[in-house]
Formats: sequence, structure tokens, C-alpha cells
Amino acid sequence: MESPAAARSHPLEIIDVIEETPDAVSLVFAHPTEGRLDHTPGQFLTLRVPGTPEDGTRWAPRCYSLSSTPGIDDHLKVTVKRTAGGYASNWLCDNAKQGMILESLAPGGRFTVRDAPDRLVLAAAGSGITPVMSILRDALAASTTPVTLVYANRDRSSIIFAAALAELQESHGDRFTVTHWLESERGLPTAAGLARLMPAPTAATSAYLCGPAGFMDAATEAAALAGIDGARVHREAFASLTGDPFAVDTGAAAAPTGGASSDGAATVVVDLNGATTIVAWPREQVLLDTLLDRGLDAPYVCREGNCGGCAFTLRRGEVHMLVNDTLDDHELRNGVRLACQSLPRADELEVEFD
Ligand SMILES: Cc1cc2nc3c(=O)[nH]c(=O)nc-3n(C[C@H](O)[C@H](O)[C@H](O)COP(=O)(O)OP(=O)(O)OC[C@H]3O[C@@H](n4cnc5c(N)ncnc54)[C@H](O)[C@@H]3O)c2cc1C
Ligand code: FES
Repeated sequence: MESPAAARSHPLEIIDVIEETPDAVSLVFAHPTEGRLDHTPGQFLTLRVPGTPEDGTRWAPRCYSLSSTPGIDDHLKVTVKRTAGGYASNWLCDNAKQGMILESLAPGGRFTVRDAPDRLVLAAAGSGITPVMSILRDALAASTTPVTLVYANRDRSSIIFAAALAELQESHGDRFTVTHWLESERGLPTAAGLARLMPAPTAATSAYLCGPAGFMDAATEAAALAGIDGARVHREAFASLTGDPFAVDTGAAAAPTGGASSDGAATVVVDLNGATTIVAWPREQVLLDTLLDRGLDAPYVCREGNCGGCAFTLRRGEVHMLVNDTLDDHELRNGVRLACQSLPRADELEVEFD
């Protein structure tokens, strides 16, 4: 019988490998034959990066943001930059080739434009350009929103998508500006320096930030210095997964669904994949495990509170989140919560998955 993990993953064939810079490649995938994997600009794939048995390396699950833009690109594309001493990024840069099949989970993540901005400020460093590129191309093609991009790199040779960005600047110069911050010329990006490159915000200006931790701190402070409403500042953090989103079984401890709660459990009405189910939710079990135990196909990736892949909207009741490394204030205020981290703090709750 096909395992639930296999049912969640999709074989993706690499149809092209593009050398973007000396230490970054783009992998272009055909959509699976069983159906397209639709995504929203800013989302990521979770790839099962093969191990190298000869040196005892086990396969590794890793997230890579899609740099392709739906509606513009026919295929899925991720862009991987080598991490010094890292396993998967170097394996992909060294070994990925046309015709290779990699297993992938469906696109996930919440680093997407959802708050109807009338001005976009994008700030990226290094490989952080990948989701930002998808958002940028979508904004230029599908809206009239003015866009400002600040992109930090070590030096000129490490700018990913340099030619494509120059072309976009040329074709959309009336409402798109890109400024390259090169450490070789200006040193490390500072909050004050980045803020000077951001435009005076309107009330509906949104900022999307993606890069290594130090850059994110500087860019977040820069957005505040520039006067951008903190609730409209969205961040994507890059980190390696430590859990195994491919191997988790579902339904193993199946308990009856529907009806009243038992043994002091809360009762939750779950709106998922177009169906409504009533589930008894044990007080000390996170919502995701409760749903998976009952054979419900709830979405997730990291199970660590940092990818947003399990997000749902709380319609009624209260939950306590153990960890939240991804949802921002705006999302929290709108009732968004993480299923992999939520414990019930009410007797009756109602939740809805996107
Ligand atoms: C939502 C999301 C989107 C992402 N998108 C992209 C993207 O578009 N492009 C991209 O390039 N990356 C992206 N990443 C990052 C990517 O998933 C990987 O984290 C990255 O490629 C590094 O993985 P790795 O296996 O090469 O490094 P790892 O092997 O995980 O190592 C990472 C670092 O830890 C160090 N390290 C490893 N093991 C140890 C140890 N035992 N003790 C001490 N130090 C250790 C390594 O030296 C290295 O510096 C994204 C991550 C997330 C969560
Ligand atoms: S699955 Fe990643 S935050 Fe819950």
C-alpha cells in the first residue's frame, strides 16, 4: 500500500540546470504528470535531497523557495546557493542534472502578498532573492504597484538574477527601482543605510524581507526607520529542517472522529479541503497531530513552527502556540495560527485551513 508520506510527495523531473553565479544554480522542474503543482509567488518546495551512501550521508529534507512566477513561467524553478559546510545545497550544486528525479512536497509557506499593498518594498540578501524574485515579477506583471528592491550581495559576481533584474528595471523603470548593496564596496548592510534606500511609505506600503539572520535584523530595523507599519513587514527565514516531513505516518493511531469530546478533550470543528469534521482534541496534543492521527490530510512541512506550512485560521475559541517563528503580528491579529504548535485553550473551537 502506498504510504501516506509517498502520497504527500511528488516526483519532479529536472529539465534544466542553470548556473546563475559561481555558487548558485537554478533547477527547473517539469510539473508532475499527475497534475500541476500550483503555487503562489513567495512559496517554497520541500525537496528530498539524496544522500551519499559511500560517505554515510543520509538523505536530507530541505526547503527551497520557488523563484518561478505562476502565470509567467511554464515550469517550477528553485534556486540553490551553496552554504559553506552544508550538505544539501552543495550536493544539489554538484550533482543535480537534467533527467534526475527528486521527490518534493507540494508548495507551501505564507511569505506571500496578502495585504493588498499600494507600494511594495522588497529587501533581499544572497539566496533570499528567490521568493522575492517571484513576488517581484508577479507584482510587475499583474498590478500597477510601485516596487523598490534593495538587494545585498558580497560582490558583483554573486548577484543572482543580475541580468533579469536589469531587464525588469529597463522595462518597468517608471515604477520599479533596484539598488544593489555590495559588501565589497559598502561593507555589511546597516539599518540606517538600508532605510535610506527605502521610499517614504504610504499607509498601505508592505515590505517583504528575505536573507540571512544578520541581514533580516538590519532590514527589519530599516523598515521601521523608514516608517513602514510593522504589521506590514513580512519576513522569510531560511533554515535547514531538522525533522522529516516525508516520513511521518498518518492515521496510525486513528481515533474516532465526529461527535462530542471525550476524557476532557476539547471539541474542534475543522474546515479542511472543503469538508467539515468535528474532532475531539486532547488538551496536550497539538492540533496537527490530532488531525493526522484521525486520518485527516492536514498540511505541514517542518513541524517546528518555522515554515508556516500548517497555518490555519482560528474562527472560534483560543489556542496556545508553543513556538511561532514565522507568523507576524498582522497574521496573529487576523487569527492565523500554526497547527503544529497549537494546544487548545477553550472547550469548543472552530478552525479553517486555507
Ligand atoms: C522556507 C525556506 C526557503 C528556503 N529557500 C532557499 C532558497 O531559495 N535557496 C537556498 O539556497 N536556500 C534556501 N533555504 C535554505 C535551505 O533550506 C537550506 O537550509 C540550505 O540550503 C542549507 O542546507 P545545507 O544542507 O546545505 O546545509 P546544512 O547541512 O543544513 O548546514 C547548514 C549550516 O550548519 C552547519 N552545520 C551542519 N551540521 C553541523 C553540525 N553538526 N554542527 C555545527 N554546524 C553544523 C554547516 O556548516 C552550515 O554552515 C530555504 C529555507 C527555508 C526554511
Ligand atoms: S509545519 Fe512548519 S510551522 Fe507548522
